[in-house]
Amino acid sequence: MIIVFLGAPGSGKGTQALMLADYLKTPFISTGDMLRDQVKQSSVLGLKAKAIMEQGELVPDNDVINMIKERVAQKDCTKGFVIDGFPRNSNQAKALDKAMMELGREVNKVVYLEIPQEVAIERNCGRRVCKNCRANYHIKYSPPKTDNKCDLCDQELYQRDDDKQETVVKRYQIYLEQTKNLVDYYQDRLISINGGLPIESIGQNIREKLKLAVGR
Ligand code: AP5
Repeated sequence: MIIVFLGAPGSGKGTQALMLADYLKTPFISTGDMLRDQVKQSSVLGLKAKAIMEQGELVPDNDVINMIKERVAQKDCTKGFVIDGFPRNSNQAKALDKAMMELGREVNKVVYLEIPQEVAIERNCGRRVCKNCRANYHIKYSPPKTDNKCDLCDQELYQRDDDKQETVVKRYQIYLEQTKNLVDYYQDRLISINGGLPIESIGQNIREKLKLAVGR
């Protein structure tokens, strides 16, 4: 199964895509995480992407498409994968379909998490991430047991540069302008899910809908 997650920033794509990948025992691919890795390594792509990401803009299509094509061609992806953060526009969606066709594969399902703007913005602004293991927390909805420390590895939590209110609003605007209409592009493979429920309920709904859809 190749499953794409679609939704606004803060809709819970990363959280749910990772949970589903664990459930299916399949690779979890996140373009946001891959780009943040490049920034951390100060690679050529990372140096280029850093300022763009801090502004809440999209990294150029060619760079992201090449990065994804390389990743999905790797051996661990042969039986499928779950992808979060890609595609972000119709150009990227067409490139993904083309890359899959060349590998004799296709995107099977697209999980679309629906959520009101104010909820998405509140979730992003309250997100905290572990500096070490990248575990995700929310100051209100899923706070760590000890203030500002990761439950899993005891390292410090931080707020992503692009999770400041002003940048979150910009990212949401870009989502409306460039990404949201992918719902139409993928309508034949789309599964719409209410993203406003608690994390576990959403996960269960996704698994139920996918089982129905694929007869598992
Ligand atoms: P990326 O990292 O992909 O960010 P995003 O798409 O904006 O998504 P987020 O990570 O903000 O939100 P999410 O929906 O994954 O929510 P999450 O599960 O984390 O991209 C960052 C940047 O990289 C982009 O702006 C761009 O510059 C660049 N980029 C990436 N991909 C690109 C591409 N393809 N092309 C070009 N540029 C690209 O949850 C958010 C918070 O809410 C967390 O705190 C979580 O704990 C909490 N939460 C989650 N679910 C629930 C729930 N049900 N109830 C309560 N709280 C919840």
